[in-house]
Amino acid sequence: MRAKLLTMAKPKRIGILSAGGDCPGINAAIRGVGKTAISHYGMEVIGFSSGFSGLINNEYVELSEVNLSGILTLGGTILGTSREKPFKKSKDQESDKPELIKKNYKDLKLDCVVCIGGNGTQKTASMLSDIGLNIVGIPKTIDNDVWGTDFTFGFDSAVNIATEAIDRLHSTANSHQRIMVIELMGHTAGWLTLFSGMAGGGDVILIPELSFDTKEMNRYLMTRFTKKKPYSIVVVAEGIPFPKEFRSASDFICYSIESETKLEARKTVLGYVQRGGSPSPMDRILATRFGAKASQLISEDDYGKMVATKGGNTISVPLKEVSGKLNLVPTNYSLIQKARELDIYIGG
Ligand code: F6P
Repeated sequence: MRAKLLTMAKPKRIGILSAGGDCPGINAAIRGVGKTAISHYGMEVIGFSSGFSGLINNEYVELSEVNLSGILTLGGTILGTSREKPFKKSKDQESDKPELIKKNYKDLKLDCVVCIGGNGTQKTASMLSDIGLNIVGIPKTIDNDVWGTDFTFGFDSAVNIATEAIDRLHSTANSHQRIMVIELMGHTAGWLTLFSGMAGGGDVILIPELSFDTKEMNRYLMTRFTKKKPYSIVVVAEGIPFPKEFRSASDFICYSIESETKLEARKTVLGYVQRGGSPSPMDRILATRFGAKASQLISEDDYGKMVATKGGNTISVPLKEVSGKLNLVPTNYSLIQKARELDIYIGG
């Protein structure tokens, strides 16, 4: 009788949310968590709407294998997202949102909340863990700037999109003998610009982690124009420093090139296209691995962790270690050195 009672333990009940800017692969991760939790571990799963807002306002849907099916290839997030930060204090009063979250978590009889998101989300996840909730984090972002993991999903898809855009600029740049400046996202990190710039054969690659000199860059472009090719591709990260009078990084770089070299320059700001659409196969795999790992951690009552990939292995790292840190491109990163060896102007 005792043995029978032990085997009939109450199934675990977990919530999933996606927060912060969206990216390709979130649905693959939701599916990875949900399907593994339901079919492999026998858990119950709910999905909160619009990031931490859903957790504050108790807005959620029950997730079954049926509604987790057919979402692997979908861009965006079926749960919606928001940039709600429940611990952010308003000017005059303490936020009561953490208390609301605790109450909803208890009333819904949850055993864990899985927080899918970037840096900000993992920071909030760590704070929720500190106030006593069981939390597992899953890192996502096209910026690849989450500390503790070699890669986030969303990044590979964005590199594919940005590389295709750069590929397309080559032919029109060649026809018109122009300098094409393309600005890519990435927030304060240069991963997306470095990878796409290298994959797309950029001639100049400017990332926030490396200082650059516009005079040097323009001299390089002039030499290319006179001695090598009459066109060049300049790949610029949105996060590079630029003077206040310019609206964007690419505005500044275009102006600098045209005024100093008298060559014709055109800019393309790729924008949200980088975050939209179906995830690449690599991102589908990474998101699925992350989702399955999150469910495994929950089944082992191993909370307060973020799933991660290191050296090809799916691991977990304490949320406390991740929180508040950024994964920027190391200035001695091997691909930077390769760029220099290929005579790409990348600053230093
Ligand atoms: O973090 C992802 C990202 O797309 C960054 O690359 C970009 O700077 C930012 O989000 C844009 O954020 P928002 O969705 O608030 O415009």
